[in-house]
Amino acid sequence: MNFNESETENRKALLEVLDGRVPWRRPVWFMRQAGRYLPEYRQTRARAGSFLDLCYDPVLATEVTLQPLKRFDVDAAILFADILLLPQAMGAQLSFRQNEGPVLDVVDDAAAVRRLDADGAAARLTPVYETVAKLAAALPGHVALIGFCGAPWTVASYMVEGGGSAERLKARLAAMRAEPWLDALIDKIVAASIDYLERQVRAGAEAVQIFDTWAGDFGDGLREKYVFAPIARIVEGLKARGVEVPVIGFARGVGAAQEAFARATGVRAVGCETPMPVAAMRSLSDAVVVQGNLDPLLVMAGGAAMENAVRRLLALPKARHIFNLGHGFRPQTPVSHVERVMELVREE
Ligand code: CP3
Repeated sequence: MNFNESETENRKALLEVLDGRVPWRRPVWFMRQAGRYLPEYRQTRARAGSFLDLCYDPVLATEVTLQPLKRFDVDAAILFADILLLPQAMGAQLSFRQNEGPVLDVVDDAAAVRRLDADGAAARLTPVYETVAKLAAALPGHVALIGFCGAPWTVASYMVEGGGSAERLKARLAAMRAEPWLDALIDKIVAASIDYLERQVRAGAEAVQIFDTWAGDFGDGLREKYVFAPIARIVEGLKARGVEVPVIGFARGVGAAQEAFARATGVRAVGCETPMPVAAMRSLSDAVVVQGNLDPLLVMAGGAAMENAVRRLLALPKARHIFNLGHGFRPQTPVSHVERVMELVREE
């Protein structure tokens, strides 16, 4: 074993940066690093039967979480699951249809919200914690384990719309009209999410990411109410229970409000979407650790544009940056392009 290995084998670069320390190398991981762009994922998923069967099988979910680590020298593994397992555990029927994305029971009035069981939801997701425990036992010493949940606004929007929706008009109009049932729904998701993340951490997750895919839905005012406040309550709720792991907030699309988001919520790092200029990430990194923001479409395309974008990100201070994408990998991404990104990140 050479000096470098012995010194670093048990140091987790991701946790070092999140703790405000200088990491032994720039931490890197990718959103959707386990997924359909990997042939071995497609194979395991076929064996599982369906995406949800895969999520609820701790042996297979562990296997697919580890698949990207066998190919790429990343610094973190992210639990393989989905943000919609929690609403399902609250009582909303969920299915994934081929090429259609998720379909969920519609929750759009007070009676439907009342029927949801927030208190018992997290306790029903035992296979997820089993996966976390298996991963914690299997991971090499330098790889951090990330747990996650969806942010209340994003989860609520899927529930109100009954699945994916390009514009989320019904959910957004309910927010703008201050529908009391929407606030009650958000409250239930906040409570269930605190339980859910606490259980993931007790099972072995070392950091958690909160995915607010649709955080860009609002301007000032409603952004504080539906994006900042619910996430702040989750961060506080975890602290109040003595759950001290760092939280990464991915408030996709809030742009110039990222610093306000970090201050309002107390997250240790913010995930930046692709359109955020690297120069803006650099100034933001004085206030909070920044994660991102390579365009996943560039990784699909490969070539000079991808390589230039990677190099631009490598100019960010290593102690304040987690290399990642601005959103998850596309299924059509060539593995060789991901290998090239890793090569460039590691040769800095
Ligand atoms: O990042 C990871 O590797 C960890 C696992 C993970 C998945 N989904 C696996 C998945 C995570 C963290 C998520 C988060 C998630 N799920 C989000 C937030 C982040 C984002 O992408 O915006 C959202 C909005 C969802 C809901 C969801 N799940 C949708 C809309 C879809 C269908 C769209 C699609 O990409 O197919 C999913 C399915 C899903 N979640 C897949 C994977 C690997 C594809 C399922 C398959 O194998 O067919």
